Amino acid sequence: MNSYALDIALTVNGERVSERVDARKTLVDFLREDLALTGSHVGCEHGVCGACTVRVDGEIVRGCLMLAVQCDGATVDTIEGMSDSGEIADLQTAFEQRNALQCGYCTPGMLAAAQDLLKRGAIPSRDDIREHLSGNYCRCTGYHAIVDAVEAVAQARAKGR
Ligand code: FES
Ligand code: FES
Repeated sequence: MNSYALDIALTVNGERVSERVDARKTLVDFLREDLALTGSHVGCEHGVCGACTVRVDGEIVRGCLMLAVQCDGATVDTIEGMSDSGEIADLQTAFEQRNALQCGYCTPGMLAAAQDLLKRGAIPSRDDIREHLSGNYCRCTGYHAIVDAVEAVAQARAKGR
């Protein structure tokens, strides 16, 4: 099959990246295969499971539904960047302490989605948390522990403000 490559330049986790990329390559495949950022996972590959969730220009997106070439000029944050910067350290600790993960396959996307909700500032209800995370599937936990962890962090962040 013929392939068509394009040069793109973007910022990934705070670093400038310039790469030649196959025009049909998805963002999540680009991150994993070209940049070795394997924290974002590939589950369903059609926008359902949320395992590929990353942030593009401040908004969470499905990395399997976006092409890498669409991110030319964009700022992309993956779970590695969010973790290294410390912005989700409290969420990571809460997930660990409350057993909100088992296999961990969903966890990077779950954390990215949870952070997207919590950075809005208000304390979400449990229903709000469930609604916001409803696009992120977990086959292991039954979701209660995940909601517990996100709720605990929301309350702790509010106390710290
Ligand atoms: S792999 Fe992207 S939503 Fe499932
Ligand atoms: S911890 Fe296994 S899929 Fe969520």
